[in-house]
Amino acid sequence: MAAARAPASFHRCLTVLFVLVAVALLLSACCAEGAAAAGGKATPRRRQLLRQRQVDYHLRRLNKPPVASIESPDGDIIDCVPISSQPAFDHPFLKDHTIQTRPAYHPEGLYDESKAASSQKDKQKITQMWHQNGMCQENTIPIRRTKKEDVLRASSVKRYGKKMHKSTPNPSSIEPDMLNESGHQHAIAYVEGDKYYGAKATINVWQPSIQQGNEFSLSQLWILGGSFGQDLNSIEAGWQVSPDLYGDNNTRLFTYWTSDAYQATGCYNLLCSGFIQTNNQIAMGASIFPISNYGGSQYDINILVWKDPKEGNWWLQFGNDYVLGYWPSFLFSYLADSASMIEWGGEVVNTEPDGSHTSTQMGSGHFPEEGFGKSSYFKNIQVVDSTNNLKAPRGIGSYTEQSNCYDVQNGNNGDWGTYFYYGGPGKNPNCP
Ligand SMILES: *[C@@H]1O[C@H](CO)[C@@H](O)[C@H](O)[C@H]1NC(C)=O
Ligand SMILES: *[C@@H]1O[C@H](CO)[C@@H](O)[C@H](O)[C@H]1NC(C)=O
Repeated sequence: MAAARAPASFHRCLTVLFVLVAVALLLSACCAEGAAAAGGKATPRRRQLLRQRQVDYHLRRLNKPPVASIESPDGDIIDCVPISSQPAFDHPFLKDHTIQTRPAYHPEGLYDESKAASSQKDKQKITQMWHQNGMCQENTIPIRRTKKEDVLRASSVKRYGKKMHKSTPNPSSIEPDMLNESGHQHAIAYVEGDKYYGAKATINVWQPSIQQGNEFSLSQLWILGGSFGQDLNSIEAGWQVSPDLYGDNNTRLFTYWTSDAYQATGCYNLLCSGFIQTNNQIAMGASIFPISNYGGSQYDINILVWKDPKEGNWWLQFGNDYVLGYWPSFLFSYLADSASMIEWGGEVVNTEPDGSHTSTQMGSGHFPEEGFGKSSYFKNIQVVDSTNNLKAPRGIGSYTEQSNCYDVQNGNNGDWGTYFYYGGPGKNPNCP
C-alpha cells in the first residue's frame, strides 16, 4: 500500500512545485514594481521603474491642469493655469494666502524710462516667442510645461530645476581655489556695505554658444543677503542659455531664488513653490527675442526687483510694462529685512577638467574692449534705497576670476548712468 501511494504523492508534490514555480515566475515578471516597493533587490529594471514613477509624480506636481495651452514655435508648450492653482500654493505656508494683485509701492523714478522707451518706438520691442500663437486669459498665468525629457536630463529628479552648486562667490572673501574647483566663472559688478531694497538694470540680450550640454551662460542681477556660508539668501533674474534645463540653446527669461545657498530651498522659475506669479502675459523660462547681432541691432531688457515696504514681498518687473509677481518675504531669513549686497553680470559653468577651459561664451562672446554693438552691456544700473527711491549705486566694484577668459569694465556717463561691458569667449590663446 505504501508503495502504491508513493507515486500519487510524488505527483502531487510535483504539481505543487510546478504551481509554486509558475507563481514565482509570474510574480517576478508582471509584478516587479510591487516587489520593488516591498523592498526587493535593486535590479536595473526596478531602478528604472522607480525613476519612472518619480518622474511621473514630479511632472504631475509641476504641471497643473491648464484651462488652455499654447504651442510655441520653439517647441515649448505654454499652459494657461488658473492663478490660484499655480505651484506656489503647494507651499504649506501659502495655504490661506491672499494673492497681492499689485505691489503697494513702485520705487520712485521707475516711470521716467517709459519716455526713453517711446523715443525709440520704431525699434522692435523684446517679447516672448509663444506670443505668436496666442495669449493667456485673465486670472490665469502662463507656465512653461515641463516635459519628461526635461526631468530626465537632470542628474536626479530631486535636482531638477536647481542650480548645480554654489554659484555666487563673495569677491572679497572666497578662496580662489574653490572657484576653480566649482567651475563657475563670473564677470560682475557689485555693491556692498549698505542696506539695499532692490536693484535695477537694463541688460543687453545675446545668445552665447554653449560648448557642453551641462554648461550654461547667464546674465542677471543678484539680490543677496547673509554670508556666503550655508544660509546665503539670493534672488536672481535675467536671461540664460541652458541646454540642460530647457533642451535647446534659446535665450530665455529666468528667475532663481534660494534661502540656503542653493541647497534644499529654491529653484529656477516656477519649478518649486515659492514665487507667486500675478502676470498673464510673460512666462518664466520662455524664449525671448529678438537677440542682438554682432555689429548690428542691439536689444535689451529691463529687470527690476524691489521690496514692497508695506507687505515686505520682493516684486519682479520685466520691461516697463510687466509686473510679474513676487517672492513672499517668509521664504527668506536675511532678505526678510533687506539685502546686504547686489551683483550684476555674467556667469558660466566651465566643466573642462585639469585647468583647461571651455569655449562657452559669456555675454556676446566678445571682450569689453570691443564696446557697443560687439560686447554685451548692463546700463542704467541702480539700487533701491530705504526711502524706496532708485538711485545710482555708490562704490561699485568689479570682479572676475580669470580676466583672460571673461572680463568686465565699468563706466559712467550721462546717457547710460552707471554701466559696464562684460563677457568673453572663454577658451582662447590667453585662456587655454
Ligand atoms: C547647442 O549648441 C551647441 C554648440 O553650438 C551644439 O553642439 C548643440 O547641439 C546645441 N544643442 C541643442 C540642444 O540644440
Ligand atoms: C584657476 O585656473 C586657471 C586655469 O587653469 C589658472 O590659470 C589660474 O591660475 C587658477 N587660479 C587659481 C587662483 O588657482
